Amino acid sequence: MPTLPPLDLDFTRSQFPAFSDPALEGWAHFENAGGSYAAAQSIKALTEFYTKTKVQPYGQAGPTAAAGNAMDDARARWAEAMNVTPDEVVFGPSTSQNTYVMAQAFGTMLGAGDEVIVTQQDHEANSGAWRRMAEERGFTLRDWKADPVTGQLDPADFDALLSARTRLVCFPHCSNIAGEENPVAALTAKAKAAGAYSVVDGVSWAPHEIADVEALGADVYMFSLYKVYGVHQGIMAVRRPLLERLPNQNHFFNSDYLSKKLSPAGPDHAQVAASAGTLDYIEALAEHHGVKANDLGGRTRAVSAMWRTQEIAIASPLLTFLANHPRVRLIGPKTCGARRAPTVAFLPEKMSPQALEKALADRGFIVGASDFYAYRLIEALGIDPATGVVRASMTHYSSEAEVAALIGALEDLL
Ligand SMILES: Cc1ncc(COP(=O)(O)O)c(C=O)c1O
Repeated sequence: MPTLPPLDLDFTRSQFPAFSDPALEGWAHFENAGGSYAAAQSIKALTEFYTKTKVQPYGQAGPTAAAGNAMDDARARWAEAMNVTPDEVVFGPSTSQNTYVMAQAFGTMLGAGDEVIVTQQDHEANSGAWRRMAEERGFTLRDWKADPVTGQLDPADFDALLSARTRLVCFPHCSNIAGEENPVAALTAKAKAAGAYSVVDGVSWAPHEIADVEALGADVYMFSLYKVYGVHQGIMAVRRPLLERLPNQNHFFNSDYLSKKLSPAGPDHAQVAASAGTLDYIEALAEHHGVKANDLGGRTRAVSAMWRTQEIAIASPLLTFLANHPRVRLIGPKTCGARRAPTVAFLPEKMSPQALEKALADRGFIVGASDFYAYRLIEALGIDPATGVVRASMTHYSSEAEVAALIGALEDLL
């Protein structure tokens, strides 16, 4: 990849109406792993659909054809961005719901004697659905345990769990607590060699890098656009060989439509169309920074690389501060390298996570304090899920000044 310029933060932030709206003035947003601000392009795409084409799509009349075209266009562009085909892109209301549908469909192909690997590190979305199906269908779960101190997953433990009986492996691209990217391509390759499919939860990584799903080798890759500068919609890329095998979850007469078979209900037309807003935002960044790649996938990867450089720079001071603080237990890797998301979870030793969240809120910082639905990981870390951890999560639009101010506030409060 040619050398990329640093991210122009002023331009980047100018793409987000939230940064100039009086309602959010004075707030520093550090709960991006919960939900990012929406780019102007996403808001515009949703508004335009609701204003100009809010009719039943795919008819012959102009506005209804336009609605259908907008939805098809979004699907085709996401396919290009993720390096899959349009048929392989499944939209759904959320990743939790997409996983649920996937488990319902995949579960019917499993039974006694089959094994599925799930992790202790996952958000419950890519864990609970499989655990419930195991009870229903009688297959065996193999639990890939997280390190009780750091929350990290050790790939050597995965190797020990994988066997000729494994039919499926489910794991996160990145934990929403430990903040570390797992070696997805290596893990999916091993799963494939053992004859198993893979379902990868990309929710915590997608805001930082839009995946090349082909390169990752995942059979299923999912993420949630409301954390990726977009609308509240889940995307699930399901590779064709698996998609063709899975039983239809839609009306019986739709079973031949690959892109419909994992959507039990009608899609949210406006949000499917407006999902392209995230890509419009990426295109705006690519153009502004002179990114030359010819295809959307290449531009998406280049913009993601610029995001990562910026994120590593801004997250590093916070990680250094927390890693060296005597009254803090930092979860996950202590430095921010290429494989560390700027999602920083920690346990303050002298006050509850909720008390710190409130004290920070009183100073204008939006942070989270919770188990963040990674209940099993929080328990494995020996932390009470009722109180959980504090999470300060940044993304590429977070500024150095915001991080410095947060460190200053934490210096006072901890
Ligand atoms: C890592 C991870 N996976 C899955 C989910 C579930 O996504 P959704 O809210 O779209 O169901 C979340 C939500 O916070 C998450 O952080």
